[in-house]
Amino acid sequence: MRHLISPLDFNVEETNSLLDLAEKIITDPSAFKNVCNGKKLATLFYEPSTRTRLSFEAAMLNLGGSVLGFSSADSSSAAKGESVADTIRVISSYADICAMRHPKEGAPMVASQYSRIPVINAGDGGHNHPTQTLTDLLTIKQLKGRLTDLKIGLCGDLKFGRTVHSLISSLSRYEGISFVMISPEELKLPDYIKHEVLEEKGIPYKEVTNLEEVMPDLDVLYMTRVQRERFFNEEDYIRLKDIYILDKKKMAHAGKDMLVMHPLPRVNEITTEVDDDPRAVYFKQAEYGVYVRMALILTLLEMEVQ
Ligand code: CP
Repeated sequence: MRHLISPLDFNVEETNSLLDLAEKIITDPSAFKNVCNGKKLATLFYEPSTRTRLSFEAAMLNLGGSVLGFSSADSSSAAKGESVADTIRVISSYADICAMRHPKEGAPMVASQYSRIPVINAGDGGHNHPTQTLTDLLTIKQLKGRLTDLKIGLCGDLKFGRTVHSLISSLSRYEGISFVMISPEELKLPDYIKHEVLEEKGIPYKEVTNLEEVMPDLDVLYMTRVQRERFFNEEDYIRLKDIYILDKKKMAHAGKDMLVMHPLPRVNEITTEVDDDPRAVYFKQAEYGVYVRMALILTLLEMEVQ
């Protein structure tokens, strides 16, 4: 039995196979509509979510399966003090696979140690968000036609942004990738990712504060939200929250093929006037999340696909 806790739990070949399967599903979704008949997905969400939880549920329903779960810690027995270990032991009798989001880093990993069903990390604190990364890889592959030889700009909250941490780890395994980190001093990428991922693998990267200056060189600009829920101090959040706002004027600096991605939800960091720009692909990205999660469920349940 396999789990998906870290973006590196699948090697490059396995990741590519999963993306191939997602692309097969995009081409002919009806061919997969009964593959998971009788199977159940549990969504255990201790933190708010729109896309991840509902795209997991849509994915399982599209495959002919069923879903059960909770969408906040308050509506589960976590509110009475139940541990993640006890919860997953019980859920293992109720479902065939589960997706867990938790504010504490490492909670899905703990769950996987006690689980009798595959556990998928649907976001753990400021640590990782591997299924967002699979969504991002599928988006880049579909819209750029490759996962190699790309200059990726990551902008905003690089300190707490788990989507960014997972994306860097995963993309660093492909040839010809370089990164431009665009953030204020206070929200820079954690040192452990710079040292253990980028420097260890010799991946070219630079850290800058000015967004417009680097935009002409980017293949992808990955915008992120400044995450209020991870700040200890509201004053710091207010000071930093609108530090980068991508608008139509700034988009004039970008190449004609540069993709603007965002894991969503957005707050102010991309103005709505950018939404109609053909380079803005964040809503398409959210749509790809369903297909990649269908592929992931099939892979972890080891379902036979013709
Ligand atoms: N991208 C993402 O994780 O969105 P949600 O928080 O809505 O699930």
